Amino acid sequence: MENNIVWHAHPITRTERERLNEHGAVVVWLTGLSGSGKSSIAGALEQALHRLNVHTYLLDGDNVRHGLCQDLSFSDRDRKENIRRVGEVSGLMMDAGLVVITAFISPYRDDRESVSLRLPAGHFIEVFVDTPIEICEQRDPKGLYKKARKGEIAQFTGVDLPYEAPLKPDVHLDGQRPVEELVVQLIDYLKGRGIIKS
Ligand code: ADX
Repeated sequence: MENNIVWHAHPITRTERERLNEHGAVVVWLTGLSGSGKSSIAGALEQALHRLNVHTYLLDGDNVRHGLCQDLSFSDRDRKENIRRVGEVSGLMMDAGLVVITAFISPYRDDRESVSLRLPAGHFIEVFVDTPIEICEQRDPKGLYKKARKGEIAQFTGVDLPYEAPLKPDVHLDGQRPVEELVVQLIDYLKGRGIIKS
C-alpha cells in the first residue's frame, strides 16, 4: 500500500480459464547451456502440445532479447533482470491459462528459484536440458563458442561465466537424445501430473 497501488482481484480466475481450456496452466522452464537444444526442444514440444489441443506460448531467449529485453546485456545483473522480466511475463501468460514454454540459459539457481517462488506452487516445472559443454561447443550453431574462445564475445556462459545446473529438476533431459524422444518424455510428464489429458 505504501506506493498507493492495491492488488485488484478480478472475477475470472486461472482455475476458470483452465476449466474452459480443459488443461492445466503451467510454466515449463527449460534451462541449459547455449547450444544445449533448448529452443529446438521447446519448439517441438509446442507443436506436439498444439496437436493435442493445448493452448501454448513459447518465450525464447534470442527472440525476447530483440524486444522486451533489448536493453539488457549478458552481465550477471542484466541476466538477473532478463530472467525476472521473463518470469513475470510467463506468470501472466500462465495466469491467462496457457502452457508457457520458456527457453533461456537462465544460468543462476537463485534467479530460477525467484521465478518459481512468484508462481503458485506446482506451476513452475524446471526442465534441465543436460548437454555437456563439449557437445554444445561442437554443435556451436551460431558460432558463438568460437567467438567466445577467441575473446570476441565476453561473459559467455560456460566459457567466462558459470552455468549452475539444477540440483533437483522436475524433468532431466539428456540433450544428446533425439528431440522427438525428449518431447515424448515431457508430454508423458505433463500427462502424469494431470496437466494435460492422457
Ligand atoms: S540468459 O543467460 O539471460 O538466460 P539468454 O537465454 O537470454 O541468456 O541468451 C540468449 C542467447 O544469446 C543465447 O542462446 C546465445 O545464443 C546468445 N548470446 C549472446 N551473447 C551471449 C553471452 N555472452 N552468453 C550467453 N549467450 C549469449
